[in-house]
Amino acid sequence: MAETTQMRVEHIGDATLYLGDCMEVLPQLAKADAVITDPPYGIGASAGTGKYGRLKIEAGQDLGWDNCVPAEEALRAVVTAGERAVVFGGNYFGLGPSRNFLIWDKGAGFKNRDFAECEMAWCSWDANARVLTYDPLARGDYRDKQHPTQKPVAVMAWAIQHAGKADLILDPYMGSGSTGVAAIKLGRKFIGIEREPRYFDIACRRIEQATKQGQLFEPAAAQPVQMGLEVG
Ligand SMILES: C[S@@+](CC[C@H](N)C(=O)[O-])C[C@H]1O[C@@H](n2cnc3c(N)ncnc32)[C@H](O)[C@@H]1O
Repeated sequence: MAETTQMRVEHIGDATLYLGDCMEVLPQLAKADAVITDPPYGIGASAGTGKYGRLKIEAGQDLGWDNCVPAEEALRAVVTAGERAVVFGGNYFGLGPSRNFLIWDKGAGFKNRDFAECEMAWCSWDANARVLTYDPLARGDYRDKQHPTQKPVAVMAWAIQHAGKADLILDPYMGSGSTGVAAIKLGRKFIGIEREPRYFDIACRRIEQATKQGQLFEPAAAQPVQMGLEVG
């Protein structure tokens, strides 16, 4: 880590946010209804430049968190921290065979360019695979990008809804807090863990703003997110 981290806890409305290593925090938590998370894929995206990040990071500011994937033991702890788990980048981690993958098709803005056209999330329970076409470039989601691998809030809301009637959502690799913003907008409770102070502070700000705005999405479980809504 680039900065010295001391465990910190922030309570913001229905969200509890931990600044710390998820391997130290998870053993202290009760089981969540659903883990919805986006761990490091080990593809060097923390540099935040070039084809992965499209977020300018000053020289020497690569925090290095994406140099490798989490250890098998860590992934096991993460997946079992909830009754259900949705793990983005699930194709990188050897989590086991599943019929239940979420495929995020990034839409026209990513076609035939030097970017992946989709991302895959592994799900821990048996269900049909689903596809969401959602173009974050067309939606303007990256205009205010604050994390090199920031996920669109609408995509995380879709993942939460796929997990069904889950009241308490946990993201042990919170980053800039996109899962938390989606959870709050869906009227769920949220626990987030992030190790890097600069991302933790961004997540606190975004989740505080979402809390002030209140619930935007319909609370009905497993309904498709209304993509016409302005989110992010
Ligand atoms: C792929 S990013 C998540 C981005 C997030 N989905 C967003 O929209 O901003 C993974 C995050 O996990 C954090 N991280 C890596 N190892 C961690 C650990 N052991 N405990 C807590 N956070 C960790 C990194 O600092 C990084 O911000």
